[in-house]
Amino acid sequence: MTKETILNGDTTALVTGASAGIGKAVAVALSAQGVRVICTARRVDRLNALVEELQNPALAFELDVADGDAVDRLLYELPEEWRDIDILVNNAGHDLGGRQAFHKRAAADIAATIETNSTGLIRTTLAILPMMQARGRGHIINMGSSSGLDWVANHSVYVASKCAVHGFTNSLRQELQGSGVRLTEILPGLVRTEFAAARWRGDEERAEKFYDKFDAALAPEDVADAVLYALQTPAHVNICDLVLRPA
Ligand SMILES: NC(=O)c1ccc[n+]([C@@H]2O[C@H](COP(=O)([O-])OP(=O)(O)OC[C@H]3O[C@@H](n4cnc5c(N)ncnc54)[C@H](OP(=O)(O)O)[C@@H]3O)[C@@H](O)[C@H]2O)c1
Repeated sequence: MTKETILNGDTTALVTGASAGIGKAVAVALSAQGVRVICTARRVDRLNALVEELQNPALAFELDVADGDAVDRLLYELPEEWRDIDILVNNAGHDLGGRQAFHKRAAADIAATIETNSTGLIRTTLAILPMMQARGRGHIINMGSSSGLDWVANHSVYVASKCAVHGFTNSLRQELQGSGVRLTEILPGLVRTEFAAARWRGDEERAEKFYDKFDAALAPEDVADAVLYALQTPAHVNICDLVLRPA
């Protein structure tokens, strides 16, 4: 058994949804550990600003995880020196038009939620995992949610999207046993980010009121700490599920 962790040496990570919230905090935390971070999202202006701030070499790369063709091409579109990805953080997600009765939902919003949170995460994994398996080295972090465990009314589509993440992660982990590739799911409860504003299409006042209704919330940095914890374990340890709730 070796104490060496995947954060040792010349490590490269790809983070989806790095333009805000949890993904941004994860990119900052990884870069502070000396990791070369590929920051991806749709808003590339934000990614460029983030890369400027990071302590170590980083790359801004536009990626809509709901665009299947772009995801499939991802590895080949990256500059060659960025293709040996050791860590994939599948974080991109939203709840567009959510937190209301299912029968009132717009079909397009429902499709976008599933295509991003579930299909996008699965397809991004398919784009990167074979290369990790060939190298016998890798760690994938999937951003689930306590909503994949606690099923509540008026939240059915988001819950479904995160249940898919939970099932996919637990099943795939069994396939990866012995491959050198580890797979961790992080399941946070409420985190104060831009998530609620994105749900309500930029209505920040409504988003603030929503967060203020709760006694406590996690910060994006709390989730980034959990990601680092899972990554810092020695290679023979796989943190499977990490559930974080505000205390
Ligand atoms: N906030 C919470 O309470 C909470 C709790 C548990 C789990 N989570 C999960 O944590 C993850 C991050 O959420 P957050 O709270 O950090 O929300 P956020 O502040 O709104 O950030 C969401 C990120 O996802 C990106 N994104 C959304 N759709 C995308 C797409 N189609 N392709 C690529 N990137 C996309 C956004 O970037 P662009 O808009 O620039 O593309 C942004 O960077 C999500 O998977 C969410 O479900 C959040």
